[in-house]
Amino acid sequence: MKLDVAFSPLGLAPQDVQGRTVFVIDILRATTVMCAALHNGARALIPVASTAEALRLAQTIGSADVLLAGEKNSVRIPGFALGNSPLEMTEQAVRGKTLIVTTTNGTKALLAAQGAAAVYVAAAVNLGVAGARARDVIEQQRDMLILCAGREAAFGLDDAYCAGRLAVAALGGRKPRRGLNDAALASLDLARRYGEHWERPLSYSRAGRELVRLGFRDDVLDAARVDAYPVLPQFHERRVTLAHLQQPHPAPPQRRPQPQPS
Ligand code: MLT
Repeated sequence: MKLDVAFSPLGLAPQDVQGRTVFVIDILRATTVMCAALHNGARALIPVASTAEALRLAQTIGSADVLLAGEKNSVRIPGFALGNSPLEMTEQAVRGKTLIVTTTNGTKALLAAQGAAAVYVAAAVNLGVAGARARDVIEQQRDMLILCAGREAAFGLDDAYCAGRLAVAALGGRKPRRGLNDAALASLDLARRYGEHWERPLSYSRAGRELVRLGFRDDVLDAARVDAYPVLPQFHERRVTLAHLQQPHPAPPQRRPQPQPS
């Protein structure tokens, strides 16, 4: 069993995700938004790397059921229908829609996880279902990576704390010494340091302070609501859709017992 944490996608190589189950975290705000949108009936989200790519893809698809969503410097990109606030992802706005999404850090982290065995989206708002899937992975002795978006490739206190909380859920109370990288141990320390007080590391973080300064305090408070949007988004074939919670995480292939020489 290996449980690693990466505090940003910087320096992440394809072999760091291949064959692993990856949980991507950008609690302020991209992964919180993805949970809110799917919880409120969005059909899918398509993360892309840039505004230009988003516009091109929307034109190519050319459907009224496709909306552009995203932020630049935390505010809605001009000409886009939606920004990157979980409070904008109402049922009225997103039910039955496919959202083409581009953000500064979150969508980049998601795209960096491509090629993994499975990629899930995690935040406080879906900690219960994401934690249960993570525990499945650990109990099956599989390798897991918690990939934080961070901020412009730097460490983000908000994502690191959330990674620690997800690691606690994955370990189910166990305290293994082996199999965790230093970043995982440090994120577990943050989880112990702040306990259940999600709003503290979120509002102390650079991302949180910036959002409050720009008038998005309610987004920070919404992102701190544990299990507010209890869905498990999965990133597969360039789309983020709801993972089938009924289907347990795919089990490793059973080794057939070798016939014993008579
Ligand atoms: C990001 O992806 O960088 C963040 O989600 C940005 C934001 O929400 O302001």
